[in-house]
Amino acid sequence: MRSLGDQTVDELGGRWSILHRQKTDHVKLDRMLERLPDTSGLERDELLNRICRLVFTHAFAEEAVLWPALRRSLDDGEELTARVEREHQEITGLVARLEQTPPDGSERAGLIDQTVALLRQDVRDEEDQLLPRLQEAVDDRTLRRLGVSWELVRRTAPTRTHPIVSRRPPGQTLSALPLSLADRLRDGLDHTARRVPLPARPVLVSASDRVGAVAEWIEQLPPLRRGERPETHVPREER
Ligand SMILES: [Fe+2]
Ligand SMILES: [Fe+2]
Repeated sequence: MRSLGDQTVDELGGRWSILHRQKTDHVKLDRMLERLPDTSGLERDELLNRICRLVFTHAFAEEAVLWPALRRSLDDGEELTARVEREHQEITGLVARLEQTPPDGSERAGLIDQTVALLRQDVRDEEDQLLPRLQEAVDDRTLRRLGVSWELVRRTAPTRTHPIVSRRPPGQTLSALPLSLADRLRDGLDHTARRVPLPARPVLVSASDRVGAVAEWIEQLPPLRRGERPETHVPREER
């Protein structure tokens, strides 16, 4: 069993193979994480936003397409995927806390370090263990079919933290459309708010907050928690 990091595109099953697409995103993420310590202020905020957008859409598509395939293909798939789902849940929790800390707060640097360490751990678990196991279990055609499905889901997935929603179908699948629309609308409003002159900013920020409140209300809907495992369940008192 060889890590994806040591394999060529052909060995991974070609450009559309899920293994190649995962590795490409992981490399992109690593480059952004490397740049993070050299940034500050607005530049750091924008880089963190780009990292979150990549991480949350990537992980959402893993949970919707890839981990169910792993559970179908491997006897110990249940155990293996529960572990990465826990990692995803921890990352979501850390980023949610990060969003609530003031930009100059002392807690912020520690939270960023913890998030970066966990993101690197998640990539290593996937590239060194889970995905090589999937590679042994299925043929290249299946890897390419998974690559196409994963890419389609990733491009339309929610871009922000949603800690309460189930990490597994069917709740996870049901959440895709409403939360993706809300998140992408907020991304657009926040992006514009950072660029317009100061007096116009509060209107956009409050519009984005209102959309955020709607997204939080959607998250609470019971059907969106269907399929959730106890390991990744967020207790009521922590919501
Ligand atoms: Fe991944
Ligand atoms: Fe992941």
